[in-house]
Amino acid sequence: MCGIAGIVAHEDITAKLVDSIRNLEYRGYDSCGVALMNGSGVISVSKNVGAVDEVSEKENFLKMSGNIGIAHTRWATHGNVTKANSHPHSSGNKAFTITHNGIVSNHDNLRTELGKKGYKFKSGTDTEVIVHLIDDQFKKLGSVESAFVNAMRKLEGTYAIAMITAHDKGKIYCSRMESPLLLGVGSDANYVGSDFNAFINYTKSAVFLEDGEYAIVTHENHVVKKIATGKTVERDVQELQWDLEMAQKGGFPHYMLKEIYEQPQIVHRALDIDGAEIREMAKAAINQKNFFITGVGTTFYVAQIGQYYFSNYAGITPMVISSDEFRFLAQVDSKSLVLAISQSGETYDTLSALRHAKARKAKTAAIINVMGSSMARMVDHLVLQGSGPEICVISTKAALAQMIVLARIALEAGVMRKHITAKEAKTKEKELRKLPNAIDKLLNEQSAFIHAIAKKQSNIRHWLFLGRGRYYPVARESALKMKEVSYVHAEGMPSGFLKHGTIALIDDDLNSVVFTPTEDEKDLFKLTLSSAEEIRARNGYVLGIRFKTKLKQKLPFSDEIVLPKTPSFIAPFLQVVVAHLLSYFTATTLKRNIDRPRALAKSVTVE
Ligand code: G6P
Repeated sequence: MCGIAGIVAHEDITAKLVDSIRNLEYRGYDSCGVALMNGSGVISVSKNVGAVDEVSEKENFLKMSGNIGIAHTRWATHGNVTKANSHPHSSGNKAFTITHNGIVSNHDNLRTELGKKGYKFKSGTDTEVIVHLIDDQFKKLGSVESAFVNAMRKLEGTYAIAMITAHDKGKIYCSRMESPLLLGVGSDANYVGSDFNAFINYTKSAVFLEDGEYAIVTHENHVVKKIATGKTVERDVQELQWDLEMAQKGGFPHYMLKEIYEQPQIVHRALDIDGAEIREMAKAAINQKNFFITGVGTTFYVAQIGQYYFSNYAGITPMVISSDEFRFLAQVDSKSLVLAISQSGETYDTLSALRHAKARKAKTAAIINVMGSSMARMVDHLVLQGSGPEICVISTKAALAQMIVLARIALEAGVMRKHITAKEAKTKEKELRKLPNAIDKLLNEQSAFIHAIAKKQSNIRHWLFLGRGRYYPVARESALKMKEVSYVHAEGMPSGFLKHGTIALIDDDLNSVVFTPTEDEKDLFKLTLSSAEEIRARNGYVLGIRFKTKLKQKLPFSDEIVLPKTPSFIAPFLQVVVAHLLSYFTATTLKRNIDRPRALAKSVTVE
C-alpha cells in the first residue's frame, strides 16, 4: 500500500512527478523516491526515508531532470523503513528501474535462483527481486517487452509495477495483479498512477487496467495487453468526475475537519442516489438465503450499523464479518449475497473476502466511494456513494454516507418483505432528509463546546465508548476514530457488557462516553442510563452524548453534549458526527499528525 506515479512527456517532468507523489502521500508516507531519464538513456534515482517534501529537499529532487520518470511513496510492508528499501529499485547495471506495490509471495525462491546467477541484492525488498528478474530475462530474450512479460509470468502474489529502462527510452512499462494501477491520458504527456490522484492535476481521462494486464505507455499513446497471452486489449478512456479543487483543503486546517464539515452535502448526495439502484441492492439482499456484509476497520463498524438497520427495519439479521476474518468463518455458497463496504474499493482484506465469495459462486455486491476501483469492477451489484475524494486517512464523510446508503437499502428491503409499510418507509426517508440540516446545525453550534470538552479531557489516556442497540456500533466506530487520530487508547463495547468485567477498570484515568438513545426509545434509553449510573456510582467520569428530553431530573453524566430532539431513525448518525469532532479536537490538542496519523494508510492493499 504505497503510491506509484509515472509520467512520459517530451519536456522536463521533474516538478510534475514530485507533485504526483505528494498527492499520493495518503497511501503511505514513510519513504519515497524518484527515477528520471532523459534522451541520453541514463536513469538517475534519488530516494530516502521521510515524507515527500522532506526527502525532496534533502535529496534535491527538483535539481534532477528528465522527460520520463517513475516515482513512489512507500508504506513499508516488506523490509524495514530504510533508504535501501525505499523505491525505485534498479538492476545492477542500472538499465532497468522499477517501483512496485503489493507482495510477491515467491520472492524467496526467485532470490535464490537469481543469487545463483550472480545477482547481488542491496535491499530486503521483494521489489528488487523483480527488477533483477526482468534484467535476467532481458539477457536471455533481448527484447524489453518479452523480458517484462516473462518476468510477470514468473511472479506469484500481488503487484502493481511501473518500469523505465535505458533499453527502450521513451516508454513506461507497467502491469497490475490485484494491486491498483491506471493510466492517465493527457494531450502532450501520458501518466501512470496507483490512483487518479497521481495525475488529476494534469488530466481527467483515465484507462483502468484489469488484473493480469500490462501496458506500454509513450508520450503519445498507450497499449494494453494480457500478461498471459500477450494479446492486445481494447479499453475505453473514461472521464473522471473528480477535480483537484474538490480534493484540496478549501481553507480548513486539516482535510479531516474539511471532510467532517462536508458531511451535510455528502449526506444529500447519498440521499440522491437513484432509488432504482437502492432497490436493486435490496432485492439482491433478500433474494438470497444467506446475506453477509463485510468490511474492515471503519467499514466493519459501518456494516454493523447496517446490521441493526436491517434487523430493526427489514426484519432480517445479515451476518456481519470483518473482512480479514471472512474466509475463516463465512460459509458462503451459491445461495449467498456478500455485500462489501469500502471507501477505496482496494482494501486487500475486503477484496479477498469478495474473491472468496466469488470462488464459491456467491453473488457479490459493494458500496464504494472510488469509481473504477478493483471492487467496483468485480461485483454483481454496485452502489457508488459519490462522497468525493476523501484525503484524510481517517474516514469520516465516506463512512457516514455508507451508513445512510445501508439505512436506505434496509428500508427498501423492509417494504419488499412487508416488515414495514411503504408509508412507514416514507416517514423514515423524510427523517433522513432532515439529517443534513441537523448536522449543519450541530457543526455550527456545538463544535466550540465539543472542542472545550476535548481539551479539558485530553490528559486522559483510556476511554470507554458505550452504546446499546444501534448505538453500540456507533460506540465502536467512535472508539476507533479516537485511537486512529489521537493515539489515545479507546475501547467500544455494548453498555450492557460493561458490568460483565470491564467495570473493574473504572478509575480516575479512564473516561467513559455514553451514546444515549432518544427518549422515545424507552427501553434502550433506560438501560443505557443505568450503565452510566453504574460508572458514576464508582466515581467514574461519564460524558453523555444525548438528545433533549422532557425529563426534569439531571441525567447521570459528568459532562454532556446535548443535541436537539431528533427522530430516533437518524439519531445514531448525528452522534457519529459528534464523535468525529471529539476525536479531531482531542488529536489537535495533543498535536497529532491529523491527516496522516502514524503507521496508518488510507488504503491497505496488503494482507
Ligand atoms: C485502513 C484504514 C481504515 C479503513 C480501512 C478500510 O485500515 O486505516 O481507516 O477503515 O482501511 O478501508 P476502505 O477503503 O476499505 O474503506
